[in-house]
Amino acid sequence: MRSLETIGRCRLRERADIAVLVVAVAVTGSTFAAEPRALYSEPHRPQLHFSPAEHWMNDPNGPIWVDGIYHLFFQYHPHSTVWGPMHWGHATSRDLLHWTEQQIAIAPTRDGMAFSGSVVLDRHNTSGFGSMRRPAMVAIFTTHDERAKQAGKMGFETQSLAFSTDGGSRWQVYDGNPVLRQPDSQDFRDPFVFWHDDTARWVGILTAGEHLQIHSSADLKSWKHESDLVLPRSAGAGVWECPGLVRLGRSADSRRRWLLLASVVDGGPNGGSATRYFLGKFDGHRFVPDAMSRTTPRWVDWGRDNYAGTLWANLPADDDRTLFIGWMSNWRYAQQLPTERWRSAMTLPRELRVARDERGDVLASSPIRELATLRRRTQPIATARIAGTRNLSAEAGVRGGLYDLELRVRARAAASFTLRFENGSGESLRLLVDREQRRYVLDRARTGNVGFSPGFADRQIAPMAQETDTSFSLRVLLDHSAAEFFLDGGRTVLTTVFFPTTPLDSVHLDAQVGVVLERGSISELASIWRDAARRAD
Ligand code: FRU
Repeated sequence: MRSLETIGRCRLRERADIAVLVVAVAVTGSTFAAEPRALYSEPHRPQLHFSPAEHWMNDPNGPIWVDGIYHLFFQYHPHSTVWGPMHWGHATSRDLLHWTEQQIAIAPTRDGMAFSGSVVLDRHNTSGFGSMRRPAMVAIFTTHDERAKQAGKMGFETQSLAFSTDGGSRWQVYDGNPVLRQPDSQDFRDPFVFWHDDTARWVGILTAGEHLQIHSSADLKSWKHESDLVLPRSAGAGVWECPGLVRLGRSADSRRRWLLLASVVDGGPNGGSATRYFLGKFDGHRFVPDAMSRTTPRWVDWGRDNYAGTLWANLPADDDRTLFIGWMSNWRYAQQLPTERWRSAMTLPRELRVARDERGDVLASSPIRELATLRRRTQPIATARIAGTRNLSAEAGVRGGLYDLELRVRARAAASFTLRFENGSGESLRLLVDREQRRYVLDRARTGNVGFSPGFADRQIAPMAQETDTSFSLRVLLDHSAAEFFLDGGRTVLTTVFFPTTPLDSVHLDAQVGVVLERGSISELASIWRDAARRAD
């Protein structure tokens, strides 16, 4: 298992001089809105998921809705396809699906690289950066001083502010930075800040060594330590990164729950990076995880490609969803993925909610409802008894390999059945529904180019969360180099990337006897980039 330190060292090998890059980005910041369509049609380019036009991306940062626009910021290296001096890239969308890349929001500052963080809309102008009429967007992010780290100093990660008073186009770094430091710390980063209604002040949660810390502030500039949050974790998992804290649902009913997200760089259920969640109570000072969250590790996603996920801020008043987006990669191999122009993509935005399970409350995820607008052709799948193989895409007459598949399958006699996505060269991604062992096995060993990193050709396993093992609902979003599986009504999610020679455009259901396809549909989806050139006009 690679420790955080090893990963850190690998990342640093790629690192160029920060000072040079600060200058470089000032002159190269550009918008990709008017780029021709060809840019987004390279082999392996995700057609449903956001990826930067060029260069390296990791964590999503500070997703926020302001005045009709969804903003997505992200960890970005604008001069390379591997990790390096971190900037905040920026993209905007009106529907959470079609994105327009904007100029870089935040470049490394005198305090260091611009690491992960969050963005808030300062409605009451607590910071004084904007006004009540024109509230500022404020980014709270980590400044990481690599030189100080290399020199063996402590306290090389501090928290800083940048703000925009023009709706997110131009960002100014606050000259009173850093606003929060901890001189004797090593890992002190990834602040997630939100307005806490009940106590009417800002609350921030961030990584602090082996645990998390909660702080509060009246103005985003001066911070008070509230509590340390020590969570159970497995040995060798690395520090908690990119925490997120949100109340699920806005209604004041007594069952409301707080959700805490925390990512572990290594030690995920199928190896490498993954994100855990904890349900619990939060009173503005302290988060207390419920008993089940403390005893059993619970994963937002069992797949290997969903890391550092975070939550949308400031959604419109009539939208009470909790929206999530994650980085669709894994530090184990992120820098080796076989793409040349850009590296890595985000998950689709997802809606998170609490669902009831035989074990109590659990998290359930579903793709955002906006996805339905990408459907170009939806074919119902007729009820049928399966014995052998059914080619669902051919029967439905859909093509192209961008699909939204919904199936309800009943299996009584069969020990298992398999959903197989395949191309003409016989490369395939398979999901085995293993009733006997009550688990799902996602196999990407035969998806094409798997040799670029040892261990990429894997089988990702998730236990079945549902009570019944006879009736299954499966929702799959298939992209050209990624797939997201929502199983057990969204209580089990598996997200994976893969790199076939051509898209995996045919969908098969393989079963022995005793499997009944009760109902379903398959929709052909439109590329999110298809209209990019037209929209830029
Ligand atoms: C998570 C992470 C964060 C950090 C950022 C740097 O992937 O390691 O903890 O802020 O990436 O790019």
